[in-house]
Amino acid sequence: MYDFFLGDREQLRREPRRFLVAVKHMLPRWANSLPDSEYLATHDLIMESDWTDGPVFVETGVGASTLLLLHHAMERGGRVISWDLSSAKASFLRQVASETLEPMHRRAIAEHWTFVSSSSLSPHTGMAILPQLTDRVNLSIHDSDHTWQTISGEIEGVVPVLVDKGIVCVDDANQVFQHTYEPIINMTRRKLGLPPMAPLPDNRGPAHCDAIPALLARHFETVEAVAVDVQNSLKDDPYYAWYDTDRRGMASVGMEKFETLHRRFVALRVSGRRR
Ligand SMILES: C[S@@+](CC[C@H](N)C(=O)[O-])C[C@H]1O[C@@H](n2cnc3c(N)ncnc32)[C@H](O)[C@@H]1O
Repeated sequence: MYDFFLGDREQLRREPRRFLVAVKHMLPRWANSLPDSEYLATHDLIMESDWTDGPVFVETGVGASTLLLLHHAMERGGRVISWDLSSAKASFLRQVASETLEPMHRRAIAEHWTFVSSSSLSPHTGMAILPQLTDRVNLSIHDSDHTWQTISGEIEGVVPVLVDKGIVCVDDANQVFQHTYEPIINMTRRKLGLPPMAPLPDNRGPAHCDAIPALLARHFETVEAVAVDVQNSLKDDPYYAWYDTDRRGMASVGMEKFETLHRRFVALRVSGRRR
């Protein structure tokens, strides 16, 4: 599948962005739901960090993000812990990683990746078990069910083990849904030829990007926005041109919000844990 020459180990060391984007661009759409600029902004955040010794990255919603985090975990003797409902998607990504990252790093993926096939909010197998799996998280990416109920629950799950200067990233943070992600339901209904569902009561609230800083500020003295450049580059992201027809379809049911695209990605660095 990935039997193409994407550079050698020396090139990867010199130009990691080129290699990581090449791997991403060869993914099928269903495994690639992150714009290139968010992917690269996350890469830059990790490169700029001083997490050289065994950092732990956590994500909800596997895909291109998994490969990026896994690359950095393999490079730094660290670990990725991922939650997703679809073990088939994780299985596909494991194959991609074994054909791209393993030859470059010459390290076993199983030593760096823990995949949890579960809802992120499950009390016994969700992020509530994070402290049983690790004593620290350096960076988390939340990209699963885009409701405030899920996003806030996931962030609360990471907080107990988030390190000082740890970073919390959220994709699709310009969404406003509280308990039910209506756009994905309406996409499914559209495919079935059914009309959109009636909007649910109490299901719209502040955009998540406006609520996340306050949630983190309840636990940390300082909450600082990082990777703010990505907000400008999103509108020129090649991802939107490449997947244009699909993205327009998504926009028509509210899964993509072009008018607030600049608020889609949130990355916040926290420090000074409140006791
Ligand atoms: C937008 S995709 C993730 C994209 C990925 N981050 C990437 O870089 O391509 C969303 C994923 O979240 C998963 N998901 C949805 N709700 C979830 C939940 N409550 N817990 C865990 N995974 C969930 C879905 O199965 C889907 O694979």
